[in-house]
Amino acid sequence: MDNRPIGVFDSGLGGLTVVKEIMKQLPNESIIYFGDDGRTPYGTKSRETVIKYTKQDLAFLLSMDVKLVVVACNTVSALALPEVRPAINVPVLEVIEPGARSALKKSKRGRIGIIATPATTQSGVYPRAIRNMNPNVQIFSQACPLFVNLVEEGWWDNEITRMVAEEYLKELKQAQIDTLVLGCTHYPLLANTISDVMGDEVTLVSSAEELSVTLKELLHKEKLESPDEHATYRYYTSDSVEKFRKLGKMILGKEISNIERVDMENYEQKACKF
Ligand code: DGL
Repeated sequence: MDNRPIGVFDSGLGGLTVVKEIMKQLPNESIIYFGDDGRTPYGTKSRETVIKYTKQDLAFLLSMDVKLVVVACNTVSALALPEVRPAINVPVLEVIEPGARSALKKSKRGRIGIIATPATTQSGVYPRAIRNMNPNVQIFSQACPLFVNLVEEGWWDNEITRMVAEEYLKELKQAQIDTLVLGCTHYPLLANTISDVMGDEVTLVSSAEELSVTLKELLHKEKLESPDEHATYRYYTSDSVEKFRKLGKMILGKEISNIERVDMENYEQKACKF
């Protein structure tokens, strides 16, 4: 039994979609969340920059004495985690493998689409993870960079977002996919629009649900489950607390308090150990 918090981080607010699912499935677990809103998006940046930011994010999160780290960001999972993972001294979960597993479970005709940031798409991690589990599926990838900005703007379901979605998704529609992986933390917030554009016959998949199941199993296996009945939640952002409060409330569907601003420059030196 271990009542220390779980550390979750993302390039911005989108990772709260993962936090929401963890809160639902693991109500006893306390969470410390860090969103690097001051430097988002990561998905259009180079691998070197994403690795540099990730090291600082980890230095901050691990300084908070978390018992486990959840990398909610697909871009970090794809580009930086393989390099930094060996230096992390607590268990780590990422989002690519759970997303890939979930897509294979849900796909009926083996025609799987993946939408993600340009960095995640170019890395090819999702197709690799899916093919490692089942080489007999057809995979179609599409980067949707503007989706992140639309979400951060709070435009989840309006005419402009719909037009952008139609443009990005037209080739996936032509490819007649049956399952679509939302390979970016922000995209589940556009699920209504994406589903309207793709049609009812396409199943949308996000990593959060499957990741939470894996997390539950891991906590049990490592004897890290929390005995507490009253979980606490603390949030940290590298940008405006007010913006975090406003958008965070929209994502989690409830008021949030305990938000603090953190200056990532203070973690540059500590990041060297990764
Ligand atoms: N959190 C990122 C991801 O899941 C999306 C936002 C960004 O580009 O930073 O890939």
